[in-house]
Amino acid sequence: MTETVWWKRGTVYQVYPRSFQDSNGDGVGDLAGITRRLDYLAWLGVDAVWISPVYPSPMADYGYDVADYCGIDPLFGSLSDFDELVAQAHRRKLKVILDFVPNHTSIAHPWFTEARASRENPRRDWYIWRDPGPDGGPPNNWLSNFGGPAWTLDPATGQYYYHAFLREQPDLNWRNPAVRAAMYDALRFWLERGVDGFRVDVIWHLIKDDSFRDNPANPHFAEHLPEINRFHQVYSADRPEVLDVIAEMRAVLRAYGERVLIGEIYLPLERLMAYYGPDLSGADMPFNFQLIQTPWRADAVQELVENYEAGLPEGGWPNWVLGNHDQPRISARIGEEQARIAAMLLLTLRGTPTLYYGDELGLGHVPIPPERVRDPWELNEPGHGRDPERTPMQWEPGPRAGFSTAEPWLPLSPDHETRNVECLQDMPGSILTLYRRLLALRREHPALAVGSYRTLALGLPDILAYERSVGDARLRVILNFGTAAHEIPLPESETWTVLLSSRGGRAGERGAGRTVLGGAEGLILMQS
Ligand code: GLC
Repeated sequence: MTETVWWKRGTVYQVYPRSFQDSNGDGVGDLAGITRRLDYLAWLGVDAVWISPVYPSPMADYGYDVADYCGIDPLFGSLSDFDELVAQAHRRKLKVILDFVPNHTSIAHPWFTEARASRENPRRDWYIWRDPGPDGGPPNNWLSNFGGPAWTLDPATGQYYYHAFLREQPDLNWRNPAVRAAMYDALRFWLERGVDGFRVDVIWHLIKDDSFRDNPANPHFAEHLPEINRFHQVYSADRPEVLDVIAEMRAVLRAYGERVLIGEIYLPLERLMAYYGPDLSGADMPFNFQLIQTPWRADAVQELVENYEAGLPEGGWPNWVLGNHDQPRISARIGEEQARIAAMLLLTLRGTPTLYYGDELGLGHVPIPPERVRDPWELNEPGHGRDPERTPMQWEPGPRAGFSTAEPWLPLSPDHETRNVECLQDMPGSILTLYRRLLALRREHPALAVGSYRTLALGLPDILAYERSVGDARLRVILNFGTAAHEIPLPESETWTVLLSSRGGRAGERGAGRTVLGGAEGLILMQS
């Protein structure tokens, strides 16, 4: 099968705009900054850039609280800066994917201002209002993902409104056809401007239980977990009717040709697969976060890949993610050595990979001093915040790492003088070089991008090995999750050539039969 659709062959790179490149010296990244760095993305070898929200916003949740779906926040620039970004990206054959945040607006959105004006306001039903419970408290037990109740009383009208996240992020009522129509118009606004697709924020949240039943208690809840885990979110999210909404959204995109719909979905595998929709009418790619959630062990990852592959609906296209702006960085979780193995895994599995900016530098955990905490979640529930994975991109040596001329909104990683693009880009053994080689190999070898996947059972506990093939081309990927070197048995009748080692070197080495895999080494071999 040779897939030609761009989002199946390609790779996606996520930019958190506040942290990529500042162009006006205010310590916060912006659109002109991203445009300036498009040459870097083309050099790196990715195909699409997904930009986290840049809409006008009070920034209670750093842009995930949208006050106008058809504009650009002045902090990030203007609509013409956006048009310029799209034009410059397209000139470099890069696609642009926008973050669409349909589940909730900002409390400052004019729709909400109208909705809360009175119970009779025509926009009232655009949001989710309920009378107080019998005790005057919240109408049910639903909790906010950032801690505390998901309901806030509006004293003026005597009703509670629902917010799955901050009280500054009231949920829209997606059962209301007028809401749907308005939001599809917003999608069209950006499609008309040439956007190539959307990453849809918390898409599984859009529809809530129509009778607002209490969520059942989670017997496995433990105090160290975020409070949201006290209950299983079975009534507040993942309702079957959401698939109709997604199919409608997808249809809006399809009217513009090959535009992609990616859905952010944190659900177990069986439920995740439902989001491809009946007859694949749903999300083109329901984001697969399983690598983030699975223990970093060869056996666990192998089982995950096999279960994911087996669970895909007929024709459903796979995808893989190692990190994003909500999750601890991969290097912070497993260390840089294994992060290289993870990079090789991400870019050699079947399906579209999404890279998170800075992971290609091996950015690790960045300590955030208490006075510099920005994430509202950290302020509500200390220990769960996401600032450490949102720190500025590091471009060059120097006090601000080339990110800005001012103090950045979040601190740089302490190792920024050496861990930056300029220092790593020509270094043969660097993680950045590894990412770039992997991206180049994916383009050179269709087997890696669109070939079939087959696990190779080597019987070595620390090793994950698999074959990717298309036509006569057969590539083997052998990844060492441990620190000890291993002899790897390979068929005597075949010759192998090393295409890439995760540690650098070895490319071009040839042999037949066994080879040696170093501790924490990953290899891509071509069989002939
Ligand atoms: C998604 C975003 C996250 C945001 C939340 C609320 O999970 O990725 O950053 O806080 O939705 O919009």
